[in-house]
Amino acid sequence: NVIGTLRKSGSEGGDGKAVRVLVQGRVQRVAKQGGLIFVWLRRGMKRMQCVLTGDLSKTYDALVLVRETSLEIIGELWELPPGTHAPLSRELRADFFRVVAAAPGGDDALITRVPENYDTASSQASEALLNLRHLTLRHDKPSAVIYVRSVVERAFQTAYHELGVTKVSPPALVQTQVEGGSTLFSLDYYGQPAYLTQSSQLYLETLLPSLGDVYCIEKSFRAEKSLTRRHLSEYTHVEAELDFITFDDLLDHLEKLISRVVDLTLEDPVAAATIKEYNKDFVKPTMPFRRMRYSDAIDWLRERGIKNEEGNDHVFGDDIAEAAERRMTDEINECIMLTHFPAHIKAFYMQRAADDDRVTESVDILMPGVGEIVGGSMRIWDFEELLAAYKREGLDPSPYYWYTDQRKYGSSPHGGFGLGLERFLAWLLKLWTVREACLYPRYMGRCTP
Ligand code: 4AD
Ligand code: MG
Repeated sequence: NVIGTLRKSGSEGGDGKAVRVLVQGRVQRVAKQGGLIFVWLRRGMKRMQCVLTGDLSKTYDALVLVRETSLEIIGELWELPPGTHAPLSRELRADFFRVVAAAPGGDDALITRVPENYDTASSQASEALLNLRHLTLRHDKPSAVIYVRSVVERAFQTAYHELGVTKVSPPALVQTQVEGGSTLFSLDYYGQPAYLTQSSQLYLETLLPSLGDVYCIEKSFRAEKSLTRRHLSEYTHVEAELDFITFDDLLDHLEKLISRVVDLTLEDPVAAATIKEYNKDFVKPTMPFRRMRYSDAIDWLRERGIKNEEGNDHVFGDDIAEAAERRMTDEINECIMLTHFPAHIKAFYMQRAADDDRVTESVDILMPGVGEIVGGSMRIWDFEELLAAYKREGLDPSPYYWYTDQRKYGSSPHGGFGLGLERFLAWLLKLWTVREACLYPRYMGRCTP
């Protein structure tokens, strides 16, 4: 509801009619300069520079306008010459304002309680600040990260919509494990044991015969008993399952998906600016992504004297621990698709490679600065082989009857993956920890706010 045309600064004459607008928001920043008071008003991710001139600046002391006070301001909207710091090169020259609700100053001021720039690597500072996450979220970086997260999530949805893959919503309350018993959160479900899901993969697999290729963006839960930069107890898992594919199809799909999601994200100007600000050196990974077999990674680590968790040289069969993985991704400094992990260090459902029975058709995608962001594989699709896998793993097959049935009624070679959204964001935005990519992070010891 604006009347008139936007006036250009320095063209006082114009057609005599300036745009009059009413804006509402919260004070982000105040500066007194000469006889003027500059207020940056924040409304969500948007900012407007407002200037209080003449009587307004005399009547009200800038002290009233403390950070977070919500205001209503009416005035003329002016276009500024390029090169000013004003958002969108616009300025609201106020002739009226009203305090909607004041925020406290002094010791209780937001800025005193939660400083604008703090070291997320310092665990002490971040614990205290995470108690005040509801307030730190009002700062530029935390809110921008959450905004980018929403753009990335939409990008996954768009990319899958373009590919004709259907989004589904599997349950979070389950009675089967997917990724090993040690990270299960168990609960009492009307007197029966149940868990919070570790992955929606098994449910996605059941949908291939009815819906074809499917994906979901759901929460997964892991009772991780260690505090690391990249482990959460509750995280957002982008998972997909693809029917009648080969392992190479799965790898091709993953690199195309990630490239498309990065492109779509960069199409959003605010997301692109945020990535540029916090991850100056970001370069989109080029296709094809570097592919490396697990056995070659073991050689690579051994050649450089990088030891395993017991302090010995890496040998075939070792788990590549977080530290070693990080050394590899940081030194190679590009996206790596690590494939063909030994069966005994991977989950029970993984298909063995046709050319080497010791290894699986599995892939982890490793990114510089983070390490593993994706875990995927082809799935055992033969009935008898799956029964043998339960046995080997010591799993009671009975709760998995619905999963096993897929191998009975028209099975097919298929595969899929899971991508940790917070880890993807940590890579994209160069975040010190995945905790920064969550609205209200959950990890060992924290379930508040
Ligand atoms: O490698 P993971 O455990 O694989 C699965 O869960 C498969 N069932 C997925 C599938 O094939 N549908 O987990 C997949 C990804 C990891 O690569 C990582 O990005 C993320 O999920 N992830 C975590 N992110 C944050 N905190 C944790 N504790 C995570 N555990 C896994
Ligand atoms: Mg994994």
